[in-house]
Amino acid sequence: MLQLSHISKNYGKFCAVRDISLELEDGLYGMLAPNGAGKTTLIKMIVTLLYPTEGTITYDGIEIQKMGENYRDLIGYLPQQFGYYKNQSPVQYLNYLAALKAVPKEGLKEKIKALLELVGLSENADKKMKKFSGGMIQRVGIAQALLNDPKILILDEPTAGLDPKERARFRNLISSLSRDRIVILSTHIVSDIESIANQVIMIKDKKLYRKDTVANICSELDGEIFECAVPEKEFPLFEKQYLVLGARQEHGYLKVRYYDPDGSFARAGKLKEEWKPVLCAANLEDVFLVSYGDEKTEVIL
Ligand SMILES: Nc1ncnc2c1ncn2[C@@H]1O[C@H](COP(=O)(O)OP(=O)(O)OP(=O)(O)O)[C@@H](O)[C@H]1O
Ligand SMILES: [Mg+2]
Repeated sequence: MLQLSHISKNYGKFCAVRDISLELEDGLYGMLAPNGAGKTTLIKMIVTLLYPTEGTITYDGIEIQKMGENYRDLIGYLPQQFGYYKNQSPVQYLNYLAALKAVPKEGLKEKIKALLELVGLSENADKKMKKFSGGMIQRVGIAQALLNDPKILILDEPTAGLDPKERARFRNLISSLSRDRIVILSTHIVSDIESIANQVIMIKDKKLYRKDTVANICSELDGEIFECAVPEKEFPLFEKQYLVLGARQEHGYLKVRYYDPDGSFARAGKLKEEWKPVLCAANLEDVFLVSYGDEKTEVIL
């Protein structure tokens, strides 16, 4: 078990992460928070690239800093920005990283072959990476993170820049990897994790805001999410009163999804009844938008 106890990180006088405690066991954790919330900072502390200003991180009860190489042997890490040589092929690149990581040479060739098969790159194993799409590069990144068969796999925004098809493929791969290890995947894109995360970790105001299953997190908004049909000219006024979570054109109206914590609009008078407010089940995207209000968000449907 990986345990973070009262972790804070300051960059000089600036506090990026404050008093975060977490217990992580095998499974997939989606770390969901807007840009600048502290995801990378937290991840860098977990992979020992940064040292917490306060607090301790332990793995099976031992402080990770004290475990040194033994801890790094347990970790696979795909950084938010990872460097590679464009003229290398995946096979050359993985061999190079295996040497850096001191992965035993015995069986390495077979291991690299199996990893490239796992990430669906067998056919491109010997092609130069300069011809690869963003998704293919990210899959090489996953393969390198798995070279040492890590017990803790950490992926910092692995789907950035991928198209929806590549993301779907990526989700399936990551989900299959989380069966017998801790996988932490940071993202600010809800759909990356909604269907695959065992638990979602949300950070807000530099602190831990939620750590729970998608279902439990969404149930907090039960009875508070509605859809209705608003005439276009009324929309600016509507938008001033309610937090709008989404809107689309439909037969001269705007079909609006909105947050109404006390259901006041649903109970309102005649004119508004014509707009037919309908109660909806909350999804993780609603939670994200309600939780982070007008913080910068990226909503990809
Ligand atoms: N080396 C640093 N020195 C000073 N401030 C930093 C440093 N690294 C990060 N920060 C600040 O700490 C905060 C958290 O940054 P961090 O990179 O952890 O966020 P993030 O959630 O990973 O964001 P993103 O989604 O953009 O990757 C930000 O306000 C950032 O500007
Ligand atoms: Mg980041």
